[in-house]
Amino acid sequence: MKKIQIAPSILAADMAALGDAVEKAEAGGADMIHVDVMDGHFVPNLTFGPIIIEAVREVTSLPVYVHLMMEAPERYLTAFADAGADYLIVHPETCPHLHRTLQQISDLDVGAGVALNPATSEETLRYVVSMLDVVLVMSVNPGFGGQAFLPEVLPKIRAVRQMLVEVEREAFISVDGGVDVKTAPKVVAAGADLLVIGSAIFKAEMGVAAAIAAIREAVEGS
Ligand code: DX5
Ligand code: ZN
Repeated sequence: MKKIQIAPSILAADMAALGDAVEKAEAGGADMIHVDVMDGHFVPNLTFGPIIIEAVREVTSLPVYVHLMMEAPERYLTAFADAGADYLIVHPETCPHLHRTLQQISDLDVGAGVALNPATSEETLRYVVSMLDVVLVMSVNPGFGGQAFLPEVLPKIRAVRQMLVEVEREAFISVDGGVDVKTAPKVVAAGADLLVIGSAIFKAEMGVAAAIAAIREAVEGS
């Protein structure tokens, strides 16, 4: 049975106690910390910049997985790498020169990834697949936490897995949006191995550690 990675998304955490939330996630068995950067242009919301990545970096030893929902992300790649990002994920809609942008990320010694919106085909990855360390399949339209999982992305997860197998590329397939104990087994069965989870971890009544444990139990054996 392969180990499924869990990356809590701090978008759903209490921002007034962010360090505490990250520490709880790490102590509760999280594998990475997911940070959503939103610019108010590519997506209709505003969130974090490099100073928050730096603050997260200081309170955890886990990899910091940065999801860039912003236009012209190439302007900030160095700033995010310097702030301590371990993975930088871009949306192809924001990168007219996607190949070059991924090369720039790799040149910074940071893991490179591409995020696919619900309406974006996996074919976008065809000619960059051998450069990828992470694929992020969005299972909601990006911009907000707490939205309902879109089941129509399940065949896309399978297609991405197939594409990686064909070129023998080792990369995480992550799924982001509406992942919880009910939907996690479906995305894992489709081929995902890295679950990005906001509300179902940080807003869970049972608490962060119990929520992570419940997700792990739900995907064991899928
Ligand atoms: C949405 C973000 C997600 C978000 C997921 O644009 O990319 O990372 O935090 O939140 P939930 O798990 O609540 O759908
Ligand atoms: Zn995200």
